[in-house]
Amino acid sequence: MNQSKQTPSAAPETWGCKTDDLLTIYGVFRHGLGKAADLIRGAKPADRERVEFVSNHLKELLQALHNHHQLEDILWWDRLKQRAPESTPVVERMISAHEQVALLIEEVQGKLAQWVKSPQDKEELLSRLAHLNEVLFTHLKDEETYIMPLAAKVLTQKEWDEAHSIGMNEIPKNRMLVQLGYLLQCSPTPQLRQEVLDSLPGFVKLLYRLNGKKKFEKEWEKLYGEKPR
Ligand SMILES: [Fe+2]
Repeated sequence: MNQSKQTPSAAPETWGCKTDDLLTIYGVFRHGLGKAADLIRGAKPADRERVEFVSNHLKELLQALHNHHQLEDILWWDRLKQRAPESTPVVERMISAHEQVALLIEEVQGKLAQWVKSPQDKEELLSRLAHLNEVLFTHLKDEETYIMPLAAKVLTQKEWDEAHSIGMNEIPKNRMLVQLGYLLQCSPTPQLRQEVLDSLPGFVKLLYRLNGKKKFEKEWEKLYGEKPR
């Protein structure tokens, strides 16, 4: 990511934003990582193609999580501390959770690479993954409880939306529509799903209908053995 640290500058009268779209992104992490152990256990060591397929899916998910956290680090923490100094201890807690998650992501990535080479050895991978999920899911809840309402008060909508536009640019072009499928599928409520659809430019919606949706559905079915909703 080639993004310099942002300096807080928006005037207080422009503060205030809608933050619930974050729950949709968290829906993807919660679902994907929550199901990861089942996928790993279910992949027969002799089925190299399946092991690689599951590993690639999880690598993509971990990369997305890493990118998402980097954006939070760059775009949120300084602004929140500056505009709501009383939130500093909470923000520091988020920063240290991110550091812990970053280390665990690296560990799981390393274990995934080992698993692909030696698919019968999956216990260490499963153990590191369980640790990652424990720390991550606690952290996501923490952000929902403390950071979302705080950001809703002191960040501008433009600042909040910046994370999406930068995040979108980090997704490889050939995966963008498929990842959109995961976002729609893992939206925690129909209303949030609709908000994702409403936020898309018309041509993206069209491309998704024409091409992305089928690709996503095929991939989801291959992963989980059932059709998406
Ligand atoms: Fe976070």
